[in-house]
Amino acid sequence: MSHAFIAHGADQLDSLLKLHEALRAAGVPAQYSDGERRADIDAAMIDAASLMIVLVSYDSMRSSDVRSQIIRAKRNGMTIIPVRADRARLSGFIKEFAKDIVHSVEALPPLVDAAQKVYRQVSPVVAVMNLKGGIGKTTIASQLAATYQASVQNRVLLIDFDPQYNLTQLFFPGQQADEAIAADRSVISLFEKSRAHQADLTSPADQWATLSTTPFTPAPRAKIAHSLLGDTPTTGRLDIVFGQFEISKYAFSTDTSGLEAVRASFLRSIEYYRSQYDLIVLDTNPNATFLTRCALQATDRVLAPMHTDIYSLRGVRLLNRVINDQTTQDRRPELSVLFNAVERREQSDFEADTRNGVFNEQVGFDLSSKLMSAAIPKSRHFRIKGKEDDAPIKRLLAHHGRGGGLRQVRDSMLTASVELATLLGKQSSAS
Ligand SMILES: Nc1ncnc2c1ncn2[C@@H]1O[C@H](COP(=O)(O)OP(=O)(O)OP(=O)(O)O)[C@@H](O)[C@H]1O
Ligand SMILES: [Mg+2]
Repeated sequence: MSHAFIAHGADQLDSLLKLHEALRAAGVPAQYSDGERRADIDAAMIDAASLMIVLVSYDSMRSSDVRSQIIRAKRNGMTIIPVRADRARLSGFIKEFAKDIVHSVEALPPLVDAAQKVYRQVSPVVAVMNLKGGIGKTTIASQLAATYQASVQNRVLLIDFDPQYNLTQLFFPGQQADEAIAADRSVISLFEKSRAHQADLTSPADQWATLSTTPFTPAPRAKIAHSLLGDTPTTGRLDIVFGQFEISKYAFSTDTSGLEAVRASFLRSIEYYRSQYDLIVLDTNPNATFLTRCALQATDRVLAPMHTDIYSLRGVRLLNRVINDQTTQDRRPELSVLFNAVERREQSDFEADTRNGVFNEQVGFDLSSKLMSAAIPKSRHFRIKGKEDDAPIKRLLAHHGRGGGLRQVRDSMLTASVELATLLGKQSSAS
């Protein structure tokens, strides 16, 4: 679980509850010491937290518990946000660290925004997207997620957001996917209340023409995600939310207010699952639809695979436009472009020209500055066939596979995932 930990004195219960509720409404789960608990339990909560918020008050400034909680958070390198909870004059150990205090419990929205920003940075969402088909979105989403999981941070969730659900079919036998989808243990449960939330409901997948706008609490992770890798503190977890054809119903719906509710539920679901993972990767569909808008609004970064050819320039040009059209400036995802299927022996003229900015004008934005340094080579290793009864993990190059040239392919994925980690503002254990 990652969450905001609220450090507080004994005298600010009202502020504490108000803050807790405001954070929850913004999709940031929060925990705090209940005062009765043992220090080791508080310590464990702090270690698992994404950030700490300190209610600065007469009591908290004198509390040895708060003091040791702050010391622990500092040692963990966590972001700490001080918030004024009363008019007490700053003193003691808090004086030094809270001297630039800007937030107050009297004005929660700016504080909640600041906390949400840190929380999102700790558990970011990346959407692998290009409005051009067959360019390697599914390949990059899955292989990069697995490499990131193995080398950077170990709790990663893949979401199959394409109604064609190639990603799901690539890793799981058809029957297993069908059974899970029939029980709504799949992507539709991020959008609508389903049997993953309440067993006796009719599945929203069976109601093509209507949208369920009933609000719901996101289902626990185990009810919706499927494991690609064992789930232990040391191996970590690489999970996948299965895709399904039925989410294409949103592209056909004319129920504007219903779609609005479904979109809001989806964004809430993603905020909730952030707390369970270090990274969420969406594999998206190649057409601009309602789903594209949802993905763009949920994501912190768009990762666009691109081939080294002239047609791909049109794809990124359009993608950049769609990003600008479908998002507002305050919540616009960053764009990174990753060359895929490049010739291995030497850099092509096209790649060199793109890196040198030759096509910036043609695409209408600063493409050369959005290009990742890494490039993924063309390799037969990406054409994963896999036998039906193979464990899903066998299709991930970071974990398995043999044969000539595999090392170079793995290295390119490793370089790309370390670069992605840096772009996301992360420290990488592999760097
Ligand atoms: N670097 C690569 N080297 C060789 N083959 C690749 C590479 N990347 C992808 N491929 C192959 O290209 C084909 C298309 O890839 P993929 O399905 O990932 O594209 P996509 O963008 O997700 O397609 P769609 O738009 O249909 O969702 C697949 O057969 C895949 O194995
Ligand atoms: Mg695909």
